[in-house]
Amino acid sequence: MRLFNGCPGFGANTHLLDGKYEVTHVEMFQKIADVNKELHPGHTVIVGDSYDYFQANHDKFDMAWFSPNCQTHTRMVKATRHNVNRIPDMTGLYGLIIFLTHFYSGPWVVENVVPFYKPLIEPTLRVGRHLFWSNKMLFGIEDVPRPKNFINNANIAGADAMKEWLGLDFEGYVYYKGNHCPAQTLRNCVHPKIGKQIIEQLTPGFTARIN
Ligand SMILES: C[S@@+](CC[C@H](N)C(=O)[O-])C[C@H]1O[C@@H](n2cnc3c(N)ncnc32)[C@H](O)[C@@H]1O
Repeated sequence: MRLFNGCPGFGANTHLLDGKYEVTHVEMFQKIADVNKELHPGHTVIVGDSYDYFQANHDKFDMAWFSPNCQTHTRMVKATRHNVNRIPDMTGLYGLIIFLTHFYSGPWVVENVVPFYKPLIEPTLRVGRHLFWSNKMLFGIEDVPRPKNFINNANIAGADAMKEWLGLDFEGYVYYKGNHCPAQTLRNCVHPKIGKQIIEQLTPGFTARIN
């Protein structure tokens, strides 16, 4: 099963997948891609623009996941201490969803945070602080409760707690753009247990277990 993982970060969403999946990540930032590769030696990790790559190669994948940047959509931009006024990147999120809906025939999912505005396209599912848009019905996805002080634990101890919670074992910390918080790139992750549940439901042939 060839899975495309766009804007993958550390690839936490694919961390618990078994060898049935041939995963290709296309990540823009070298240092983040390096950690992804270290965590997933069996996956292909390409440094580049996932939108360009996917437009050119989408017919080579059986299924697709995208986690576009959330910085301009998150409710945090309205929090007083951040108070950054930026035009939300609608193309990176909604342009992508429209592209997938009309031009991609495989199962797909797009993940983002709950935004500060009413979503322009109705999401398929909400799990905790994340919204998911998909062309498949997703159901019964179990959330993984977040550690205490998830947002405010902006130090090395907080980053270590996040690594432990996510089950991602790597040395050091990666800082995203100008952000000085060592936990930020980890907070951006989808918990591996949630990623696994969703990807399994997207997989052709998935049948629900009825208890
Ligand atoms: C929200 S994080 C992804 C987290 C991921 N879902 C996980 O579970 O680990 C978004 C990532 O997308 C990357 N990114 C942003 N724009 C990109 C682009 N155009 N092409 C490739 N990667 C991009 C960022 O560098 C960042 O690492």
